[in-house]
Amino acid sequence: MLLMSTKNYSNHMKRYKTIFSTFHTVYRLITTSGDVRNFATGICRLYKNAFGADSVTIVLKNVNSHGFLKMRLKDRRQFFKKGGISILTHAEREMLDHEKEAILENRLTYPFIFSDTLGAVCVRRSLNDFGFSELEKRWFLSLSEEISVALRIFNLYREEKRLMINYIKSLTKLLDQYVPTSYLHTKSIYKLIKAIGKEMSLSESETKSLEYASLLHDAGKIQLPSGILRKQTPLTDEEYKMIMKHPRKGVEMIKDLEILKPVIPIILHHHERYDGKGYPSKFKKDQIPLGSRILSLLDAFDAMYFGRPYRKRILMNDIEKELRLQMGKQFDPHIVEIFLKILKRKNIRKYLRSFL
Ligand SMILES: [Fe+2]
Repeated sequence: MLLMSTKNYSNHMKRYKTIFSTFHTVYRLITTSGDVRNFATGICRLYKNAFGADSVTIVLKNVNSHGFLKMRLKDRRQFFKKGGISILTHAEREMLDHEKEAILENRLTYPFIFSDTLGAVCVRRSLNDFGFSELEKRWFLSLSEEISVALRIFNLYREEKRLMINYIKSLTKLLDQYVPTSYLHTKSIYKLIKAIGKEMSLSESETKSLEYASLLHDAGKIQLPSGILRKQTPLTDEEYKMIMKHPRKGVEMIKDLEILKPVIPIILHHHERYDGKGYPSKFKKDQIPLGSRILSLLDAFDAMYFGRPYRKRILMNDIEKELRLQMGKQFDPHIVEIFLKILKRKNIRKYLRSFL
Protein backbone atom coordinates (compact mmCIF):
# COMPACT_ATOMS: atom_id res chain seq x y z
CA MET A 1 0.00 0.00 0.00
CA LEU A 2 1.43 3.36 -1.04
CA LEU A 3 -0.28 5.48 1.56
CA MET A 4 0.45 4.93 5.19
CA SER A 5 -2.64 4.34 7.35
CA THR A 6 -3.51 7.10 9.85
CA LYS A 7 -2.66 4.83 12.79
CA ASN A 8 0.73 3.88 11.35
CA TYR A 9 1.44 7.50 10.53
CA SER A 10 0.70 8.64 14.07
CA ASN A 11 2.86 5.80 15.46
CA HIS A 12 5.69 6.92 13.22
CA MET A 13 5.32 10.55 14.31
CA LYS A 14 5.35 9.45 17.94
CA ARG A 15 8.52 7.49 17.30
CA TYR A 16 10.25 10.47 15.64
CA LYS A 17 9.22 12.75 18.49
CA THR A 18 10.78 10.29 20.96
CA ILE A 19 13.96 10.24 18.89
CA PHE A 20 14.25 14.01 18.95
CA SER A 21 13.54 14.30 22.65
CA THR A 22 16.16 11.60 23.33
CA PHE A 23 18.85 13.68 21.63
CA HIS A 24 17.82 16.67 23.67
CA THR A 25 17.96 14.62 26.89
CA VAL A 26 21.60 13.67 26.25
CA TYR A 27 22.66 17.34 26.36
CA ARG A 28 20.54 18.01 29.41
CA LEU A 29 22.28 15.12 31.18
CA ILE A 30 25.73 16.65 30.57
CA THR A 31 24.81 19.86 32.33
CA THR A 32 22.56 18.54 35.10
CA SER A 33 24.25 15.30 36.24
CA GLY A 34 26.34 16.20 39.28
CA ASP A 35 28.50 13.07 39.15
CA VAL A 36 29.31 10.21 36.84
CA ARG A 37 26.92 7.80 38.59
CA ASN A 38 23.96 10.08 37.89
CA PHE A 39 25.14 10.51 34.33
CA ALA A 40 25.39 6.74 33.82
CA THR A 41 21.94 6.19 35.37
CA GLY A 42 20.44 8.84 33.08
CA ILE A 43 22.00 7.29 29.98
CA CYS A 44 20.87 3.78 30.99
CA ARG A 45 17.27 4.91 31.50
CA LEU A 46 17.36 6.71 28.18
CA TYR A 47 18.34 3.55 26.29
CA LYS A 48 15.88 1.43 28.26
CA ASN A 49 12.90 3.67 27.57
CA ALA A 50 13.80 4.49 23.99
CA PHE A 51 14.24 0.86 22.91
CA GLY A 52 11.79 -0.86 25.23
CA ALA A 53 14.76 -2.97 26.35
CA ASP A 54 14.71 -5.70 28.99
CA SER A 55 18.16 -4.83 30.17
CA VAL A 56 20.76 -2.15 29.56
CA THR A 57 24.37 -2.36 30.76
CA ILE A 58 26.76 0.55 30.62
CA VAL A 59 30.44 0.25 31.44
CA LEU A 60 32.48 3.44 31.79
CA LYS A 61 36.19 4.00 32.30
CA ASN A 62 36.82 6.25 35.29
CA VAL A 63 39.12 9.01 34.01
CA ASN A 64 40.47 10.01 37.42
CA SER A 65 41.07 6.65 39.09
CA HIS A 66 41.77 4.44 36.06
CA GLY A 67 39.06 2.12 37.39
CA PHE A 68 35.64 1.25 35.98
CA LEU A 69 32.04 1.68 36.84
CA LYS A 70 29.16 -0.44 35.75
CA MET A 71 25.47 0.41 35.70
CA ARG A 72 22.86 -2.17 34.82
CA LEU A 73 19.11 -1.76 34.58
CA LYS A 74 17.07 -4.93 34.39
CA ASP A 75 13.31 -4.83 34.59
CA ARG A 76 12.82 -2.34 37.41
CA ARG A 77 16.01 -3.14 39.26
CA GLN A 78 19.22 -1.16 39.17
CA PHE A 79 22.75 -2.44 39.86
CA PHE A 80 25.80 -0.28 40.32
CA LYS A 81 29.43 -1.30 40.81
CA LYS A 82 32.66 0.64 40.94
CA GLY A 83 36.17 -0.80 41.06
CA GLY A 84 39.01 -2.37 39.11
CA ILE A 85 38.82 -4.58 36.02
CA SER A 86 37.60 -7.50 38.18
CA ILE A 87 34.08 -6.01 38.39
CA LEU A 88 33.64 -6.64 34.64
CA THR A 89 32.45 -9.94 33.20
CA HIS A 90 34.27 -11.53 30.30
CA ALA A 91 31.59 -10.29 27.89
CA GLU A 92 31.85 -6.73 29.24
CA ARG A 93 35.63 -6.72 28.82
CA GLU A 94 35.18 -7.86 25.24
CA MET A 95 32.63 -5.12 24.68
CA LEU A 96 35.28 -2.54 25.68
CA ASP A 97 38.03 -4.16 23.62
CA HIS A 98 36.00 -4.32 20.43
CA GLU A 99 36.33 -1.20 18.37
CA LYS A 100 33.18 -1.90 16.42
CA GLU A 101 29.51 -2.12 17.28
CA ALA A 102 27.64 -5.44 17.22
CA ILE A 103 24.10 -5.27 15.81
CA LEU A 104 22.24 -8.53 16.40
CA GLU A 105 18.57 -9.44 16.33
CA ASN A 106 17.99 -9.01 20.07
CA ARG A 107 21.24 -7.46 21.27
CA LEU A 108 22.91 -4.19 20.36
CA THR A 109 26.37 -3.21 21.63
CA TYR A 110 28.43 -0.13 20.96
CA PRO A 111 31.85 1.01 22.23
CA PHE A 112 31.91 4.71 23.17
CA ILE A 113 35.07 5.94 21.46
CA PHE A 114 36.34 9.48 21.19
CA SER A 115 40.07 9.32 20.38
CA ASP A 116 40.16 6.77 23.25
CA THR A 117 37.73 4.10 24.49
CA LEU A 118 35.53 5.76 27.12
CA GLY A 119 33.08 2.92 27.75
CA ALA A 120 30.48 0.72 26.09
CA VAL A 121 26.76 -0.06 26.12
CA CYS A 122 24.76 -3.24 25.65
CA VAL A 123 20.99 -3.11 25.05
CA ARG A 124 19.04 -6.39 25.16
CA ARG A 125 15.53 -7.41 24.34
CA SER A 126 14.21 -10.78 25.45
CA LEU A 127 14.38 -13.53 22.80
CA ASN A 128 10.62 -14.03 23.11
CA ASP A 129 10.00 -10.45 21.97
CA PHE A 130 10.29 -9.06 18.46
CA GLY A 131 13.83 -8.25 17.41
CA PHE A 132 14.99 -4.67 16.90
CA SER A 133 13.67 -3.08 13.71
CA GLU A 134 15.92 -1.53 11.06
CA LEU A 135 14.86 1.95 12.18
CA GLU A 136 15.73 1.12 15.79
CA LYS A 137 19.14 -0.23 14.78
CA ARG A 138 19.95 2.95 12.84
CA TRP A 139 18.66 5.07 15.69
CA PHE A 140 20.78 3.10 18.18
CA LEU A 141 23.92 3.84 16.16
CA SER A 142 23.37 7.58 15.94
CA LEU A 143 22.28 7.88 19.57
CA SER A 144 25.37 5.95 20.71
CA GLU A 145 27.61 8.11 18.54
CA GLU A 146 26.12 11.18 20.17
CA ILE A 147 26.60 9.72 23.64
CA SER A 148 30.31 9.13 22.87
CA VAL A 149 30.67 12.87 22.26
CA ALA A 150 28.57 13.66 25.35
CA LEU A 151 30.76 11.40 27.47
CA ARG A 152 33.90 13.16 26.27
CA ILE A 153 32.37 16.57 27.11
CA PHE A 154 31.24 15.27 30.52
CA ASN A 155 34.77 14.00 31.30
CA LEU A 156 36.35 17.29 30.22
CA TYR A 157 33.87 19.21 32.35
CA ARG A 158 34.74 17.10 35.40
CA GLU A 159 38.45 17.50 34.73
CA GLU A 160 38.09 21.28 34.48
CA LYS A 161 36.15 21.35 37.74
CA ARG A 162 38.81 19.25 39.50
CA LEU A 163 41.62 21.50 38.21
CA MET A 164 39.70 24.59 39.20
CA ILE A 165 39.11 23.38 42.77
CA ASN A 166 42.84 22.58 43.11
CA TYR A 167 43.66 26.02 41.72
CA ILE A 168 41.38 27.70 44.26
CA LYS A 169 42.89 25.66 47.10
CA SER A 170 46.48 26.56 46.25
CA LEU A 171 45.56 30.19 45.61
CA THR A 172 43.90 30.56 49.03
CA LYS A 173 46.86 28.86 50.72
CA LEU A 174 49.22 31.31 49.08
CA LEU A 175 46.90 34.18 49.91
CA ASP A 176 46.74 33.11 53.54
CA GLN A 177 50.54 33.22 53.82
CA TYR A 178 50.86 36.50 51.99
CA VAL A 179 47.87 38.41 53.39
CA PRO A 180 46.73 36.74 56.63
CA THR A 181 44.24 39.55 57.23
CA SER A 182 42.06 38.73 54.24
CA TYR A 183 41.51 35.13 55.17
CA LEU A 184 37.94 34.27 56.13
CA HIS A 185 37.17 31.36 58.43
CA THR A 186 36.10 29.00 55.68
CA LYS A 187 34.10 26.48 57.67
CA SER A 188 32.03 29.03 59.57
CA ILE A 189 31.52 31.14 56.44
CA TYR A 190 30.31 28.07 54.51
CA LYS A 191 27.84 27.30 57.28
CA LEU A 192 26.52 30.88 57.22
CA ILE A 193 26.35 30.91 53.40
CA LYS A 194 24.28 27.71 53.48
CA ALA A 195 21.91 29.16 56.10
CA ILE A 196 21.48 32.45 54.18
CA GLY A 197 21.08 30.55 50.89
CA LYS A 198 18.28 28.46 52.37
CA GLU A 199 16.56 31.44 53.97
CA MET A 200 16.71 33.47 50.72
CA SER A 201 15.87 30.47 48.46
CA LEU A 202 19.13 30.75 46.51
CA SER A 203 19.81 28.02 43.96
CA GLU A 204 22.53 25.42 44.54
CA SER A 205 24.78 27.08 41.95
CA GLU A 206 24.28 30.56 43.49
CA THR A 207 25.30 29.15 46.88
CA LYS A 208 28.32 27.40 45.35
CA SER A 209 29.40 30.65 43.64
CA LEU A 210 29.20 32.45 46.98
CA GLU A 211 31.43 29.79 48.54
CA TYR A 212 34.05 30.22 45.79
CA ALA A 213 33.78 34.01 46.07
CA SER A 214 34.33 33.85 49.84
CA LEU A 215 37.60 32.02 49.18
CA LEU A 216 38.78 34.23 46.33
CA HIS A 217 37.36 37.68 46.97
CA ASP A 218 40.71 39.16 48.07
CA ALA A 219 42.92 37.09 45.75
CA GLY A 220 43.82 40.31 43.86
CA LYS A 221 45.75 41.49 46.93
CA ILE A 222 48.53 39.06 45.97
CA GLN A 223 49.47 41.60 43.29
CA LEU A 224 49.79 44.51 45.74
CA PRO A 225 52.99 45.42 47.65
CA SER A 226 52.90 43.47 50.91
CA GLY A 227 54.15 46.55 52.82
CA ILE A 228 50.80 48.26 52.24
CA LEU A 229 48.80 45.20 53.28
CA ARG A 230 50.72 44.74 56.52
CA LYS A 231 50.87 48.43 57.40
CA GLN A 232 49.65 49.14 60.95
CA THR A 233 49.45 52.95 60.60
CA PRO A 234 46.71 54.72 58.56
CA LEU A 235 47.07 54.47 54.79
CA THR A 236 47.91 57.48 52.62
CA ASP A 237 45.46 58.43 49.83
CA GLU A 238 47.85 56.95 47.32
CA GLU A 239 48.05 53.64 49.23
CA TYR A 240 44.29 53.48 49.64
CA LYS A 241 43.87 53.95 45.89
CA MET A 242 46.11 50.92 45.34
CA ILE A 243 44.08 48.82 47.79
CA MET A 244 40.93 49.76 45.90
CA LYS A 245 42.32 48.00 42.84
CA HIS A 246 42.23 44.52 44.42
CA PRO A 247 38.70 43.52 43.26
CA ARG A 248 39.62 44.20 39.61
CA LYS A 249 42.98 42.45 39.98
CA GLY A 250 41.19 39.45 41.50
CA VAL A 251 38.81 39.25 38.54
CA GLU A 252 41.80 39.39 36.14
CA MET A 253 43.16 36.25 37.79
CA ILE A 254 40.05 34.11 37.29
CA LYS A 255 38.39 35.58 34.21
CA ASP A 256 39.44 32.75 31.85
CA LEU A 257 38.06 29.95 34.00
CA GLU A 258 34.66 29.09 32.58
CA ILE A 259 33.32 27.56 35.81
CA LEU A 260 34.19 30.70 37.80
CA LYS A 261 32.31 33.07 35.46
CA PRO A 262 29.36 33.55 37.90
CA VAL A 263 31.85 34.42 40.65
CA ILE A 264 33.29 37.43 38.75
CA PRO A 265 30.56 40.01 39.52
CA ILE A 266 30.48 38.93 43.19
CA ILE A 267 34.23 39.52 43.56
CA LEU A 268 34.27 42.72 41.50
CA HIS A 269 31.64 44.42 43.67
CA HIS A 270 32.35 43.03 47.16
CA HIS A 271 33.43 46.50 48.39
CA GLU A 272 30.37 48.38 47.15
CA ARG A 273 28.16 49.89 49.85
CA TYR A 274 24.37 49.89 49.88
CA ASP A 275 24.38 53.73 50.05
CA GLY A 276 26.60 53.98 46.95
CA LYS A 277 29.75 55.13 48.77
CA GLY A 278 31.77 51.98 48.09
CA TYR A 279 34.10 50.96 45.25
CA PRO A 280 34.94 50.26 42.41
CA SER A 281 31.68 51.31 40.69
CA LYS A 282 29.86 53.27 43.45
CA PHE A 283 26.84 51.03 42.82
CA LYS A 284 23.78 51.49 45.03
CA LYS A 285 21.12 49.11 46.40
CA ASP A 286 19.99 46.53 43.80
CA GLN A 287 22.67 47.66 41.34
CA ILE A 288 25.07 45.68 43.51
CA PRO A 289 24.96 41.94 42.70
CA LEU A 290 23.10 40.01 45.40
CA GLY A 291 26.14 37.78 46.02
CA SER A 292 28.35 40.83 46.68
CA ARG A 293 25.79 42.26 49.15
CA ILE A 294 25.81 38.97 51.07
CA LEU A 295 29.58 38.58 50.91
CA SER A 296 30.36 42.11 52.15
CA LEU A 297 28.17 41.46 55.20
CA LEU A 298 29.84 38.09 55.90
CA ASP A 299 33.29 39.63 55.40
CA ALA A 300 32.53 42.33 57.98
CA PHE A 301 31.00 39.81 60.38
CA ASP A 302 34.05 37.54 60.15
CA ALA A 303 36.39 40.45 60.95
CA MET A 304 34.28 41.50 63.95
CA TYR A 305 33.57 38.03 65.35
CA PHE A 306 37.04 36.51 64.96
CA GLY A 307 39.05 39.74 65.14
CA ARG A 308 42.06 40.55 63.02
CA PRO A 309 45.75 40.92 63.89
CA TYR A 310 45.22 44.68 64.22
CA ARG A 311 41.73 44.56 65.72
CA LYS A 312 40.25 42.81 68.76
CA ARG A 313 37.21 40.61 68.39
CA ILE A 314 33.84 42.11 69.20
CA LEU A 315 31.09 40.53 71.34
CA MET A 316 28.01 39.21 69.58
CA ASN A 317 25.68 41.82 71.14
CA ASP A 318 27.88 44.64 69.88
CA ILE A 319 28.14 43.04 66.43
CA GLU A 320 24.34 42.96 66.21
CA LYS A 321 24.18 46.66 67.18
CA GLU A 322 26.81 47.55 64.59
CA LEU A 323 25.01 45.61 61.85
CA ARG A 324 21.72 47.36 62.69
CA LEU A 325 23.50 50.70 62.61
CA GLN A 326 24.81 49.95 59.12
CA MET A 327 21.41 48.90 57.68
CA GLY A 328 20.88 50.91 54.52
CA LYS A 329 24.35 52.45 54.86
CA GLN A 330 27.01 49.79 54.38
CA PHE A 331 24.63 46.83 54.11
CA ASP A 332 21.39 45.77 52.46
CA PRO A 333 18.77 46.05 55.29
CA HIS A 334 16.87 42.98 54.10
CA ILE A 335 19.99 40.80 54.21
CA VAL A 336 20.92 42.18 57.66
CA GLU A 337 17.43 41.21 58.96
CA ILE A 338 17.82 37.67 57.62
CA PHE A 339 21.35 37.38 58.97
CA LEU A 340 20.37 38.59 62.46
CA LYS A 341 17.59 36.01 62.50
CA ILE A 342 20.10 33.28 61.62
CA LEU A 343 22.52 34.50 64.32
CA LYS A 344 19.79 34.02 66.93
CA ARG A 345 19.73 30.25 66.29
CA LYS A 346 21.29 28.22 69.08
CA ASN A 347 22.98 25.72 66.76
CA ILE A 348 24.62 28.54 64.76
CA ARG A 349 25.91 30.26 67.92
CA LYS A 350 27.28 26.96 69.20
CA TYR A 351 28.96 26.26 65.85
CA LEU A 352 30.55 29.71 65.70
CA ARG A 353 31.78 29.44 69.32
CA SER A 354 33.51 26.16 68.48
CA PHE A 355 36.04 28.06 66.33
CA LEU A 356 37.11 30.54 69.02
FE1 LIG B 1 38.30 42.87 49.68
